[in-house]
Amino acid sequence: MCDPLFQPISINGMTVKNRIYMPAMHMNMAANYAVTDRLVEFYAERARGGAGMITVGYATIDDRSGNPGNIGAQRDTYIPGLARLATAIRDNGARSSVQLNHAGRYNHSMLMGGKQPVAPSAIASRLTRETPHELGIEEIKEIVESFAQAARRGKEAGFDAVEILSGTGYLISEFLSPLTNHRTDEYGGSFDNRVRFGLEVIAAVRAVVGSDFPLLVRMNGNEFMKGGTSRQELQEYAIRLVAAGVDALCINVGWHEGQVPQIVTEVPRGVYSYLARGIKEQVSIPVIASHRINDPHVARELIDDGCCDMVAIGRALIADPFFPEKARNRRDADIVHCVACAQGCFDNLFKMKAVECLCNPRAGYEKARKIVRSEHPLDVLVVGGGRPG
Ligand SMILES: Cc1cc2nc3c(=O)[nH]c(=O)nc-3n(C[C@H](O)[C@H](O)[C@H](O)COP(=O)(O)O)c2cc1C
Ligand code: SF4
Repeated sequence: MCDPLFQPISINGMTVKNRIYMPAMHMNMAANYAVTDRLVEFYAERARGGAGMITVGYATIDDRSGNPGNIGAQRDTYIPGLARLATAIRDNGARSSVQLNHAGRYNHSMLMGGKQPVAPSAIASRLTRETPHELGIEEIKEIVESFAQAARRGKEAGFDAVEILSGTGYLISEFLSPLTNHRTDEYGGSFDNRVRFGLEVIAAVRAVVGSDFPLLVRMNGNEFMKGGTSRQELQEYAIRLVAAGVDALCINVGWHEGQVPQIVTEVPRGVYSYLARGIKEQVSIPVIASHRINDPHVARELIDDGCCDMVAIGRALIADPFFPEKARNRRDADIVHCVACAQGCFDNLFKMKAVECLCNPRAGYEKARKIVRSEHPLDVLVVGGGRPG
């Protein structure tokens, strides 16, 4: 019987060998924006493990869009490092993409050498407690161009695709949302005005990378922010993104400051896939479901049901890079499951540390820590193994 999870799929002419998409996860492993050996080895291992497509990042597009632990894409000098990542992923059998993002008012002055964060309007962020600088029209145009130039660098570095992050409360979604966009010019007010910035970014990126280069957008299916962009508006935004030339959509969930649980163990597996289905009903390009899809059985069912075309499997690939290969060979019982604790990965970011994993001591130490069979094996009783997330 053919396995729905391991059927190839095409995104604007690029064939991906299976439906497993590793979404961007900021690893905090770059050194002053430069790609490190540690990052290269981390991603090479995930490609070896069998994921169909791997997105690295997010990568910064200018000096106010992230912090030095992010992969940098704002200068040509970063292209060789980006190329090392793209090559490591390709040489180990997966398709590669780089996610580009501007964090807007979610960025912190402390992480930008004292520079003030920027946003559509000067509304304090609940995440950082800082009030951003309201962008002027010229500054908006510069950021649009910075996205385009970062995309050019991604393409020149050899990535198979680029992805624009347009959700989670970062800059593009801040323009979209009436909560964070109080502008009275052509970038604020009506829905048409609030989508303008995001669509200008897509148009500029498309113009630079050309019509035959795969371009993805990661956007919210629901922001879960009271008074923010509605679910209906997000569906309309998806339609406009497709009209602007986007080739695939990855549908994520919530803003960082949102109150609705998104990634913890209590969130049932695959529960947010209905958001991908809602978008898939509106568009005719591949749609990727996301969040808490960490079991091959759930992943298969979502594809088989036509809920989505691909599944984003994030932390489960930190915990076990070989999850895809094990699933392909029906060795589900051998998968080291992510328990959705967030303690080694997400929590580390807030401690300004690189991502690690509670269940995988090799995550981030792929070269340094090899697992070898002991010459003196012992029988060991493991007590309190917990339950899989
Ligand atoms: C450490 C960490 C960093 C993340 N960084 C990003 C990011 O830079 N861009 C993004 O779109 N999502 C980011 N995410 C969200 C993941 O891509 C993913 O949507 C989330 O972990 C839920 O999926 P999962 O349950 O499969 O892990 C991050 C998640 C984690 C755990
Ligand atoms: S630290 Fe916890 S949540 Fe993060 S990948 Fe590992 S098991 Fe999953």
